[in-house]
Amino acid sequence: MKDNLVIFDTTLRDGEQSPGASMTKEEKLRVARQLERMKVDVIEAGFAAASPGDFDAIRSIAETVKDSTVCSLARANDSDIRRAGEAIKPAKSGRIHTFIATSPIHMEKKLRMMPDEVVDAAVKAVTQARQYTDDVEFSAEDAVRSDFDFLCRIFEATIKAGARTINVPDTVGYSIPSVWGERMRALIERVPGADKVVWSTHCHNDLGMAVANSLAAVMAGARQVECTINGLGERAGNASLEEVVMAVRTRSDLFAVETRIDATQIVPASKLISQITGYPVQPNKAIVGANAFAHESGIHQDGVIKHRETYEIMRAEDVGWTQNKLVLGKHSGRNAFKTRLADLGIVVGSEEQLNVAFARFKELADKKHEIFDEDLQALMSDETVTPEQEHYKLISLRVASETGEIPHARLTLSAGGAESQSEADGDGPVDASFKAIERIAASRSELLLFSVNSITGGTDAQGEVTVRLAKEGRVVNGQGADTDIVVASVKAYINALNKLVSKPEKVNPQV
Ligand code: KIV
Ligand code: ZN
Repeated sequence: MKDNLVIFDTTLRDGEQSPGASMTKEEKLRVARQLERMKVDVIEAGFAAASPGDFDAIRSIAETVKDSTVCSLARANDSDIRRAGEAIKPAKSGRIHTFIATSPIHMEKKLRMMPDEVVDAAVKAVTQARQYTDDVEFSAEDAVRSDFDFLCRIFEATIKAGARTINVPDTVGYSIPSVWGERMRALIERVPGADKVVWSTHCHNDLGMAVANSLAAVMAGARQVECTINGLGERAGNASLEEVVMAVRTRSDLFAVETRIDATQIVPASKLISQITGYPVQPNKAIVGANAFAHESGIHQDGVIKHRETYEIMRAEDVGWTQNKLVLGKHSGRNAFKTRLADLGIVVGSEEQLNVAFARFKELADKKHEIFDEDLQALMSDETVTPEQEHYKLISLRVASETGEIPHARLTLSAGGAESQSEADGDGPVDASFKAIERIAASRSELLLFSVNSITGGTDAQGEVTVRLAKEGRVVNGQGADTDIVVASVKAYINALNKLVSKPEKVNPQV
């Protein structure tokens, strides 16, 4: 009998701390549903005290998700714990994850607290959190640079106060596998009450070792791994969920644990996160990269044709890779459309929303005869934009581009309900269109990134564009998809502007 390895997904919290990766409530709900479908044990849905928007999103996820525990992060103080407790209240199974920094550098320079005060705050936070739920997790932030005896002391005290999970983070991605495994083993051996809790690890990827360190901790006795889809997260990111899960599964000869994860949901989850955040997946990324199962060399191809396992240690279909499957076409009816959305886990709120989405599907099917799952995902991500989030809206666009001529764009934009027209020349049709938008919006934002990808194969494929804008220290990503890449670019630019206009200020838990 193998132990269960708890998969704690923090894409919606630590992942969302990546620059520009912030998600709307509707996007977070879509991700949470996909994580539930994938059978993630714990979904860290956010940091309730960060902003009213974060609080709302956690509460909606707590109301919606039934098959995974829904967790909120909280710093070790009264008001954070109260907000977290209120946010997870509707959950069938809810957890509060409270943390405080324990390394000398963080205690002295950031918290300006003495070690005794840090222990007191941690114990108080865990005790208060237990008033809301029995499922309380305590993390010692920057455990990697913390004094070992002090860690033992704070863990012993928080276990006595009622923490059920003790998380040991490598907050700055500093460790290496042998050292990290040894630290986990020593903690489990030394801390009184260690056998009453689940030991957890949370590793960042600054030296590219987040997954290796997490697996070393599992070998040493950790039974929860905190991770994110595509390894999204602060700076170089967190341990990647898909790599941890598939390492444990593929090398079951080495690991005494198994997970509950439905691995066939991994690729759809990866695509969803990439689409929502605008963070592309590198082609050679393990498990979810476009080339992860592609064989280029003739010798490899020959081997795979003769016997697949010559060069493949996993099967592409087991992690959710399917050939682009033709799902719908212009003759498909409303019912087939609705059923396919449900298969993809996309819930359409009302009949009216379904009608609007179906009309847009028909428009797309007229331009593009074969509609794939990826097209539906892109189409429906536009549908999750609520009217309050849509200050700017594209009404019409006309671009002229001809060899030897200066590209020119003319567009009509609705800004807060009032329509305006503008035109501009540019280096290309996209540049001219962006300039025309800025003549109306005057956002004074800086364009950090412009990227175009084709959603599926073929020249009739939709182009998916990401535009990253920065203004006064805030970074946002906008997405747009269309069979016309200039239109897709304009949609992405407008989506980013809307996020700049509507995104509320929020607190970063670690600052
Ligand atoms: O990296 C970290 O230390 C964290 C904690 C809040 C667990 O994200
Ligand atoms: Zn972290």
